[in-house]
Amino acid sequence: MYYDFVAPTKEPDRQEFFINKCHELIEEYIEKKGKTPTYHVTTFGCQMNARDSEKLTGILDKIGYTEVEEDEADFIIYNTCTVRENANQRLYGHLGQLKKRKQAGTLQLIGICGCMMQEPETVAYIKDKFPFVDLMFGTFNFYKMAELLYTRLAGEESQVVEVLSEPEINVENLPERKKYSFKSGVNIMYGCNNFCTYCIVPYVRGRERSRTPEDILEECRTLAANGYVEIMLLGQNVNSYGVNFLGESDILKANPEYDFPELLSDVCAIDGIERVRFMTSHPKDLSDRLIEAIKNNPKVCRHLHLPVQSGSTRILKAMNRRYTKEQYLELVDKIRREIPDISLTTDIMVGFPGETEEDIQDTIDVVNKAGYDQAFTFIYSPRTGTPAAKMEQIPAEVTSERFSRVLEAVRENSTRISSRFEGQTVTVLVEDINDHNEGYLTGRMSQNLVVHFPGDPSLIGTFQKIKLLEAKGFYYLGELVK
Ligand code: 5AD
Ligand code: SF4
Repeated sequence: MYYDFVAPTKEPDRQEFFINKCHELIEEYIEKKGKTPTYHVTTFGCQMNARDSEKLTGILDKIGYTEVEEDEADFIIYNTCTVRENANQRLYGHLGQLKKRKQAGTLQLIGICGCMMQEPETVAYIKDKFPFVDLMFGTFNFYKMAELLYTRLAGEESQVVEVLSEPEINVENLPERKKYSFKSGVNIMYGCNNFCTYCIVPYVRGRERSRTPEDILEECRTLAANGYVEIMLLGQNVNSYGVNFLGESDILKANPEYDFPELLSDVCAIDGIERVRFMTSHPKDLSDRLIEAIKNNPKVCRHLHLPVQSGSTRILKAMNRRYTKEQYLELVDKIRREIPDISLTTDIMVGFPGETEEDIQDTIDVVNKAGYDQAFTFIYSPRTGTPAAKMEQIPAEVTSERFSRVLEAVRENSTRISSRFEGQTVTVLVEDINDHNEGYLTGRMSQNLVVHFPGDPSLIGTFQKIKLLEAKGFYYLGELVK
């Protein structure tokens, strides 16, 4: 697009410049209409997307938009997920609704970003079926939202689409608005190199890139200085942190072997940080050193999300998971031996191509043996471009019946296991008002288990001792211990 000004070429200066340019347009808008334009960002999918959305909302706040509920917003952004097919269908359903609002003049702008935009067929489909969408951008350039928005607002094009096929640069330190004032996710790496045969993530998020220790520790220190007490270190596979660093690092020069357990210990050493979590751990990469680091550091939360996907060694091989049923169960045993109060959670997929009754029995066997506090169960969904999508698929009714049985096994086990703290007094970080129970708050144990208890909202963001009175399956009811 032609501009009558010269924008800086260097990021993030360029984006700050466009944030200001957008801000000027918004000021004109406010002058003309007598009101501030509003936005809503709807986030689908994982913690990574949630973290990206904090960056989008920060930029929109800075531009001068005000956040409101989706049905009142002038500008709606969907930050999409494409891990399973039904997410695409749901997005199209939403867009159908938004068309009516745009025609009625109660909605001005629609943006779509995130993982789904990295699939060329999806972008082509939206361009064709939903031409009223204003902005589309992907996972590698969402930091550019202000520039793209400016192009849409000041230019002649009714639809601005920019998707990169791989990351060009890494831009941190743009404005962001956090959901909580006491806990925050911190990206330690982007992308994934594992290529599990069912998974689209390596294609839409690119190859692994690790942030330097300095960069990560600096962000954590700033959070601590601003009163944050809990940090969640984020990566598709945190245990492989340490490949393909984004930038120079003196720490790495002095210690080229610097890895995730060291990073974890360094983050724990920051004054003011009381709890550290991390997500996600691939079982094949979970080292003894990491188990030691968790065990020896009381600040590391007693929770590991350890996706098993299937209990069948044969299916795990077809999934390219690179561990067997036995290796996984041995790992679980070792973790429990070393850290007895740990809580384990997992992801399980049912209906992977070629899965037999015997394979399902293996999965149920792992559920019965591993002792999960919670397991997220998914029906396998073929993703275009992944190897498994080309394999022979299982009939939906067969998968659906097996899925019910796996779910039942998960329920039986997790209800019993997650109740094991009943009667004990534990420390929780108070996170929120409980929307379903007036006068109640919601807190989280180190084990990631949720506790509801009566209390004053002023306690949000503090650690409290809570007696766990009754286990309710997925959560506890408790009371404050004075
Ligand atoms: N179909 C169903 N579930 C999937 N997951 C990843 N890819 C697929 C797919 N194609 C699940 C895995 C992963 C979780 C985030 O989503 O269980 O751990
Ligand atoms: Fe997908 Fe496997 Fe990478 Fe997880 S480890 S993001 S399941 S490819």
